[in-house]
Amino acid sequence: MIIIDKEKCTGCGACVRDCLNKALEIREGKAEYIRNCFKCMHCIAVCPAAAVSVDDPDYSMDEVFPIDESCHVDADNMLRFIKSRRTIRHFQKRPIEREKIEMLLDAGRFSPTGSNSQNVSYIVIKEHRDEFNALAMKEFRSYKHPDRFSLVFPPPFDLSRIDFEDDEFLFKGADTIILAVCPGDVNAAIAAADMELTANGMGLGMLYVGFFMRLVNVSKPLKEYLGLSDKDHVAVAMGFGYPDVQYYRTVPRKPAKVTWL
Ligand SMILES: Cc1cc2nc3c(=O)[nH]c(=O)nc-3n(C[C@H](O)[C@H](O)[C@H](O)COP(=O)(O)O)c2cc1C
Repeated sequence: MIIIDKEKCTGCGACVRDCLNKALEIREGKAEYIRNCFKCMHCIAVCPAAAVSVDDPDYSMDEVFPIDESCHVDADNMLRFIKSRRTIRHFQKRPIEREKIEMLLDAGRFSPTGSNSQNVSYIVIKEHRDEFNALAMKEFRSYKHPDRFSLVFPPPFDLSRIDFEDDEFLFKGADTIILAVCPGDVNAAIAAADMELTANGMGLGMLYVGFFMRLVNVSKPLKEYLGLSDKDHVAVAMGFGYPDVQYYRTVPRKPAKVTWL
């Protein structure tokens, strides 16, 4: 339930204007919550008088904070940050602190989702990481045969370039593996991108593990280990850790293919 504090509401209509669900109206000079919505909470964010709150066990007003200068990132700086991001394939044996993992999950949680569905859930594999990796590699090695391999890993995946002897072929020694489970790919991919940049901001690195994303969704033993049903879809697999590699410069990219209309 969205609550309007009538004492504080000035009737400016900012919440009404920004409400995608048409759930708010100005009545007798004050905003009123007139029908259910998908709780994007723009009304809370946009109210200059801080008159809007939510009363719902799924949400806490305690985590709402005012937007000030500290929330601003200069665009040039942001773009340089994005350009200096690299996929990490060499990790230190140093464990990631719990608070940092919580921050990564927070970055995912605050990413946008279609219709504000917030339908991405996460599996953090840390304590049982080696046991899990062993199972993943066992499953992966069962695709060593060319006929079987191409079923799950079509081109450009190339069997001849895979070192099946490498126990860390999939996760490259990443300390913590986080899986984003979601019926579709888009919401999870957006969350993952935000998590990667947040990781970089904390001195951590990230690897998207495409091989594992394909593998896990066709592997009964892996799904069972993870407590997932056949129908659950692992949309993104990420390996996080402290990088054991340093990059000194950015890389070139192809020009973007753009159509201007
Ligand atoms: C969806 C996706 C899956 C990927 N899977 C793997 C993988 O399984 N193993 C790997 O070493 N790198 C993987 N990568 C990393 C890409 O190879 C990498 O992003 C690309 O070569 C560009 O390098 P950069 O990320 O450092 O810019 C993946 C990247 C994405 C976006």
